[in-house]
Amino acid sequence: MSSNQASPAPRRVAVVGATGAVGREMVSVLHARNFPVSEIALFASERSAGKVQDGPYGPLTLKAFDAEVVKGYDVVLLAVSGDFAKEHAKNLASAGALVIDNSSAFRYDADIPLIVPEINAAAFHEAFQAGSRLIANPNCTTAIAVVALGPLHKAFGLRRVIVSTYQATSGAGAEGMAELEEQTRNQLDGKPVTNSVFRHPIPFNLIPQIDAFQDNGYTKEEMKVTWETRKILDLPDLALSCTAVRIPTYRAHSEAITIETLQPVTPDAARAVLADAAGVKVVDDPANGAYPMPLNAAGQFDVEVGRIRSNLVFGDHGLDLFVCGDQLLKGAALNAVQIAELAL
Ligand SMILES: NC(=O)c1ccc[n+]([C@@H]2O[C@H](COP(=O)([O-])OP(=O)(O)OC[C@H]3O[C@@H](n4cnc5c(N)ncnc54)[C@H](OP(=O)(O)O)[C@@H]3O)[C@@H](O)[C@H]2O)c1
Repeated sequence: MSSNQASPAPRRVAVVGATGAVGREMVSVLHARNFPVSEIALFASERSAGKVQDGPYGPLTLKAFDAEVVKGYDVVLLAVSGDFAKEHAKNLASAGALVIDNSSAFRYDADIPLIVPEINAAAFHEAFQAGSRLIANPNCTTAIAVVALGPLHKAFGLRRVIVSTYQATSGAGAEGMAELEEQTRNQLDGKPVTNSVFRHPIPFNLIPQIDAFQDNGYTKEEMKVTWETRKILDLPDLALSCTAVRIPTYRAHSEAITIETLQPVTPDAARAVLADAAGVKVVDDPANGAYPMPLNAAGQFDVEVGRIRSNLVFGDHGLDLFVCGDQLLKGAALNAVQIAELAL
């Protein structure tokens, strides 16, 4: 919105899944970004109905999700599951609400936009003007990667991409964080460590499996990064391989990314491109110990990018970089709110 335009009309906003790791952040991000809200309502399961949740809008009473009620809101941010989204999202959107879904239910549907505003806002505007009201929010690892990959592609052209991830426990929701904390305590106290969210104990360990294995030996999480990066960058044939690993941190995902480019590239040229890129903060002073890390990226809107160097395999057509972003923010809540802002 330019400064000589009238302020956008405040919207009635429903956050569904408001008690979860992503839902709570959505409420905070709406407030932090001054999203024009005339009313905000928090919905979760029957289990949470009637409980009071404190947040930046003050204490709010949680309601059990009721499709008939939620239909009346202007903006619906969904942070529940894929099955839940499949059951409700299209009906809510048909009723006129702008529905932004955080699950993977619709990300691969050709007629549903998958949006990271810094990269493909045009795809949102085109679909929105044509009447689409259901928008998919990408997988967290993908959203963080494309904020850096998009500008590099524009400047140098991407030929091949290899990603290795280091993903926080909160990527598995609020229960994932709780399991890390409880198991760590039990292990240090010499008590039995039992895991239920993760397949193996997560404290003092890492697990090279996120989501189910596919026929090709990759996990679903790894294939999501390939499929979604191709869709967001509009590069349907991009060669991209990912290995996704769960590590014992609370929040913020890290990714070691290797790119082969079509045009020659230098670390300085890449740094200059990334320094100008929206949503990116270049943190790249290794001599002084400055590089992206989860402890610094957690709670930040920008994705940190550093360790930028020429790649020994691809020479002057290749780069290595390390990125770190808060997956509950850029990988979920922030990106969803940014999409809602595109419609103001
Ligand atoms: N965590 C991440 O980093 C991340 C990143 C990107 C996308 N996502 C996606 O975002 C979605 C939410 O993930 P999360 O990590 O926030 O999960 P979570 O912490 O487990 O929260 C799940 C939320 O869904 C609610 N819920 C469950 N069943 C419901 C029902 N029948 N009706 C209404 N609400 C219901 C829960 O409410 P109760 O408290 O009442 O059970 C809770 O608020 C998932 O699709 C996930 O894949 C997560």
